Amino acid sequence: MVDTLPVSFGYENIKRVIIPENELKARIAEVGKCISLEYSEKPLLLIAILKGSFIFLADLCREITVPCEVEFMRSSSYVGNSTVSTGNPKDIFGIDKDISKYHVLLVEDIVDTGKTLVRVTEQLKKLNPLSLKVCTLLDKPERREVDFSPDFALFTVPDVFVVGYGLDFDEKYRNLPYIAEVSL
Ligand code: XMP
Ligand code: MG
Repeated sequence: MVDTLPVSFGYENIKRVIIPENELKARIAEVGKCISLEYSEKPLLLIAILKGSFIFLADLCREITVPCEVEFMRSSSYVGNSTVSTGNPKDIFGIDKDISKYHVLLVEDIVDTGKTLVRVTEQLKKLNPLSLKVCTLLDKPERREVDFSPDFALFTVPDVFVVGYGLDFDEKYRNLPYIAEVSL
């Protein structure tokens, strides 16, 4: 599959493709199998952190071959077109289930400083899930500021701002079918 860069108006600052569509698909299938093995016979609840993980979640859950349920929550520390976390995060849990009955797998788009996932996992642990693990599509370990390692990390990316496949810059580019670097 060829991942051509869009040339139309509004896409001028897409610099290069970092992870093409076929590589995303293959790796997600692989990890979907691992998750299916690990959670067979276990009540699995995927909790996706919006908005960035919506496409990843949709593709990942279709590669999971054991029963699972899905919930969504919001966590946001970016404002407008900033590429730097505001340090004033807002988490909105829209989960109307008793998660103490589930093995929870948090689905995230990217781990950057690690602060979001440290905070969110601490909050979720208070609700006593049977277990809690984190699956992130992308990991940017060079930017880590707190001690956090995701249980499943599909791709490691360099310290550049990436968009596509659910990830945005100023709410744009989420619809690109691949992960790309943007020039800011
Ligand atoms: P922390 O720093 O708490 O942040 O690990 C995680 C959240 O920051 C966003 N983020 C990005 N979003 N391209 C994006 O579109 C990036 O390169 C990027 N780096 C961090 C993202 O929302 C993630 O959930
Ligand atoms: Mg996010």
